[in-house]
This record gives sequence, C-alpha cells and structure tokens, in this order.
Amino acid sequence: MPLDKDSLYKYQIVYQIYPRSFKDSDGDGIGDIKGIISKLDYLASLGITALWLSPIFKSPMKDGGYDISDYYHVDPMFGKDEDLFELIKEARDRGINIILDLVVNHTSDQHMWFQEALKGKDNPYHDYYVWFDEIPNDLGSTFGGSAYEYVESLGQYYLHLFAKQQPDLNWKNPKLREEIYKMMAYWLDKGVYGFRMDVIENLGKIPEQGITVNGPHLHEYIHEMAKRVLTPHKAFSVGECWCADNTTRTLYTDPQREELNMVFQFGWFSQFNNTRFQKFEPRRFTVKEVRQVLFDQQITEPRKSWNANFFGNHDLPRSVIYFQEDPKYRDDLAKMLISINLLMGGTPYIYQGEEIAMGHPKWNSLDELRDVEELQHYEIFKGMGENSEKAFALVSHGRDNSRTPILWNDQDNAGFTSNKPWIKVNEEYKTRNVKAQESDPDSTLNFYRSAIRFRKYGGFLESIINGMFTPLYEESETLFAFHKDGDSPYTYIANWSIKEVDNPIVDKSPVFSHGAIGNKLLPYGFALYKD
Ligand code: GLC
Repeated sequence: MPLDKDSLYKYQIVYQIYPRSFKDSDGDGIGDIKGIISKLDYLASLGITALWLSPIFKSPMKDGGYDISDYYHVDPMFGKDEDLFELIKEARDRGINIILDLVVNHTSDQHMWFQEALKGKDNPYHDYYVWFDEIPNDLGSTFGGSAYEYVESLGQYYLHLFAKQQPDLNWKNPKLREEIYKMMAYWLDKGVYGFRMDVIENLGKIPEQGITVNGPHLHEYIHEMAKRVLTPHKAFSVGECWCADNTTRTLYTDPQREELNMVFQFGWFSQFNNTRFQKFEPRRFTVKEVRQVLFDQQITEPRKSWNANFFGNHDLPRSVIYFQEDPKYRDDLAKMLISINLLMGGTPYIYQGEEIAMGHPKWNSLDELRDVEELQHYEIFKGMGENSEKAFALVSHGRDNSRTPILWNDQDNAGFTSNKPWIKVNEEYKTRNVKAQESDPDSTLNFYRSAIRFRKYGGFLESIINGMFTPLYEESETLFAFHKDGDSPYTYIANWSIKEVDNPIVDKSPVFSHGAIGNKLLPYGFALYKD
C-alpha cells in the first residue's frame, strides 16, 4: 500500500523531552533549548522523527511549566525565542519535527489575562476564567484541596482543577477560544509541526454539575479548533485523555469527525491505580490484566481510530520500575516494552531516558522533592494523621521519579550540568549512562536504535499501521502475543514474565527477536515472525 500522505502522523516516532532535565548548556543547573540543540545528532541517531517538548513558555514554574504566563515567549530559564526558532530549523534539517505542549485548560495566575480578570467583574478578561459567587460543590483539585479559590476583592471564587496558581480557562467564551487559535496558528506559522494537548478532556467542564471531563461541548470545541487551525495547517495533534475509553477515543480520532489525530489512553496505568494515592504505591498485576487493557485498545478498525502507544511520561513512574518484577531483568524488560510499543498499532512515544532504561533515584528527604503534587500531598497525608516518615515515603513515589536529569556519562552530575542541578541526579549514573551504552552493542540504547530501524524499514510497516489486530494465546499466564494482518502480516510473541517459557511457535525462525533461543523464550524474550 502506498504511503498515505494524510496519515503521516501514523508514521511518526515521537520522543518526549522534559526540557528542565534533558541537557543544561549554560551551567545554571537547568536544562535548556541550546542543550537540546547540542543533542540533536544523538536524537537523530535514535531514528525518532519528532520531538514533543514539555512546556518551554514563560512560567512561574509552580507546576513545571504547566502554568503558562505568556504563550508567545520562551521562559528565560530555557533560553530565548531565537533558540526555539533555531531548534525548529536544526531539527528539521535532521528530519525531526517539533511538537509543542499546548496547555490551554488553564493558565498561570500570573498570566496577563488573569491579572486583568482580577481587576473587576466588568473587565473584558474576567470572563476568560470560571467564576462563582458561591462555592457550588465540594469538587477537589487534582493536586489536593478544593478546586475553588476565593478572591476577596471580587467576592468570588475561581475554578482551578489543578494548583491554585493554575486558574481554569472558560472555554464557553468564544473570545477566549479565538485567542487560543490565534496563538496556535502563530506557532504553526513558525514551523512547529503540531501539539500535544494537555488535559484536553477538561475543556468542556461544567464544575457546578460536577462535570470535569467529557463535558457536553467538549467535542464541539475540539472540532472547532481542528477546523480553524489544525486542518488548515496540517498540524499534528495528540490529546492527553486520562479518562478516554475506546468509545471516546474514537470520538476524538475518527478522521471523519475532524478532531485530533490520536489521544493518550491511560488504561494500562490508571486501571491498576484507581485513586491518586494508589499511584504512589506500586502495585503488581498479572500479564492477563495488562493484556486485557492494551489489547482492548487495539481491536479497532485502524482507519477509523488511532492509538498513541507509550509506557512512560513526566507524570508516570518509569516503566522499567512500574512493571519490574526482578531488577536483574531491567534491560530485558525495557527491550520487550519498546518492541511492543513499536510493533502494535499506533504512533509510538518514547520518554527521555527510557532508551537507557533509567530507573528511579533514592529520595532521602523532603527537601529533595520538587513536584507540586508531591509537596501538596505531603501536607494532606500529614493532615490525615500520617507521621512525617510515612507521608514522605508515600509522596516519594511521585512524579519527580521520572523528572531527574538524563544520565549522559559517568562524570559529575552525569554530564547533565556543570553546576548544581535543579533536582537530584539519579545515583545510577556511574554504571548506567548514554556514553557507556553507546559502546555496548547489547545495550538497551543500541537495541532501541535497531528496534526503531526495524519498525521503519523491516518490511512490516504497512501491517503495523493498517493491519487488523488479533490477540493470541489469550489463556496464557505469561505470553503477550498477537497477529496483524495486511500487506505484510506477522505474529508477535513475548514472554511477559521472569520465568523461562516454551515458545509455542516452533516451525519458524523469527525475523526480529531478543531472548528467543531455540524453542525457549527467556524472561521478557520476544520474537516477531513473518506469516
Ligand atoms: C497534565 C500534565 C501534568 C500537569 C497537568 C496540569 O496532566 O502532563 O504534568 O501537571 O496536566 O497541567
């Protein structure tokens, strides 16, 4: 089948950068855009085709930049606007597209719109936000505490689904929507490829009815955004949708409906961690359960709906720790996960550091933690009667674990910065780092390279993308296996366990594999067979 030019988003391999922790170029201890530019050859060597940058805009950084105070300018912490323009150009020269993080459910409380809104109920910007004269209900904010904050001078409460420094925007207001579309067009005209859309499912909120996600007008707004900006600019789009199931996923991504290219579905994570507190407590689950969630997302007509495949981001534990059963097999687990990510249907996303199977650092005390969610929950847990040690132990399982600097080499601060880093460096760097893995042909890093090459050029891409998905060995306690039909049909089989198991496919040799020896699959071993 020829390449479908309208579906280029399906052919991308996206690498997510958390800029603060990627590479520091100016010695202030914080990663920056010039640091990213200095690593573009490395990124190109992985074979990725797009970079999603977590927010780099002006921000008081109450929530790692997800609290934007100016959508048009780069925060000085990350460099100058010119650095971003240079990154767009330098990346393009290497065949890499730049995807920005679009955070438009809320702004920072320091954004000019909110500062104006505070001036009075008749200020034109007042209606850019969501206000109440009385608290309508006991809706809580994601980071803890009430979702309503009182402003004495107005005698009103504003809504904040996240931190109180992140007031929610009022998407019912057409003027606000126009401002957002104008800003999006501005960046697309600068050469940006598209957007990752932060908590996009919250836009249609009706807090007074307790509706925070999937509100009745949500898809209207997204369709309008697509019509006004995304389609005319042929922009790439991926929505962050914690609550999406297969039905809502199709609403967002059926091309006929003209909304988004794809959404992140979090079932594999959130179905095993039902409350935010459980998120802080690693939980074991069976491969049957994981399979059920991941396979369920796959059994759809690929032309009607599309997946974003991922096993990590800046809000989640590192996948090799989350799924780990025995640390001894960490790199084998990493290799199996990336093979699943690349060889199931969907656009694959890689989170920085995943390619060297980085783990979590050891947290020794509260003052090492940085994340607003962790710090607010620490107080909440203490308020609930936990002692300091228990409260710290709980929150130290939080989001900072995936936000520590990339381990570039075994030198000071893992080669991330020449100064004191803004957050601690994972002590694994002496033995686990990019430089060491570069020179080891069996490293996870080099495996990522060959797996990406295999997806792109191994001869199966059409079936990966367009093939119908059929689960295999559904009764098995250990196997994770499926078949894809299409022009280049194949069978994928993995042993998602730390036991060595028999490989039921005995009459063929794999075209791509790791840990598949004779008729055995080693722990996390897998193989791909051509039909
Ligand atoms: C998204 C981001 C997360 C942020 C939140 C509020 O979930 O990924 O990091 O805290 O939205 O913007």
